[in-house]
Amino acid sequence: MSRSSVLFVVFLASSFILPRVAPATEPSPHIKILVAYHSATGNTEKMAQGVVDGAKGVQGTVVVLKRVGQVTAEDLFSADAVVVGSPVYWSNMAGEVKTFFDNWQLKFGVFPEFKMRDKVGAAFATGGQVAGGKEVTLLTMLAAMLGNQMIVVGGGGAFGASATTEGESPGIDSKELAGARDLGKRVAEIAWMVKRGSAQ
Ligand SMILES: Cc1cc2nc3c(=O)[nH]c(=O)nc-3n(C[C@H](O)[C@H](O)[C@H](O)COP(=O)(O)O)c2cc1C
Repeated sequence: MSRSSVLFVVFLASSFILPRVAPATEPSPHIKILVAYHSATGNTEKMAQGVVDGAKGVQGTVVVLKRVGQVTAEDLFSADAVVVGSPVYWSNMAGEVKTFFDNWQLKFGVFPEFKMRDKVGAAFATGGQVAGGKEVTLLTMLAAMLGNQMIVVGGGGAFGASATTEGESPGIDSKELAGARDLGKRVAEIAWMVKRGSAQ
């Protein structure tokens, strides 16, 4: 047998006998959280960053942070959880945030299939006064999510995270920021529970 034939036989044998190289590993499982907010003077934006930091602390969590007007259909529908933040305007959510929710149908077409169904939803708000409408703002955002059959959760406070930005302690203090982080962490943990549960 010639040298090249021997080499060919060895090659053939090795391709059947030798252990095969392991296939490329599967992408590691992850959850995706969209944090969408409006902010004109920076307070709600700081809280949004706190939510992002809290969520990122939960392993395997990918976070997309965007202003409400920049969110695309792909951002919305590929997310396992959506956290929405608004300043209080006249004791309710800002018009920009209401338009964002309206666009879920008008631009992105969530109905009739209920495309947001079973995604985790949560909210955060900042307002100038202590009793100036933060809870109303949080609850109206959560109501929009409930209407979409989302799984609504609190965190950082009963209805979500919030901050009072005028008066004795202007801006966002460390306790309020910690509340925002708590909300992000809780949303990520619940989103993981839902993902694992629905995989069974
Ligand atoms: C048009 C407008 C209406 C507001 N209405 C309220 C209100 O009803 N209650 C309240 O507590 N704060 C009110 N504020 C204060 C803002 O909610 C507060 O300054 C908030 O932290 C601003 O958030 P931002 O810095 O993210 O823009 C209002 C502010 C504006 C500009």
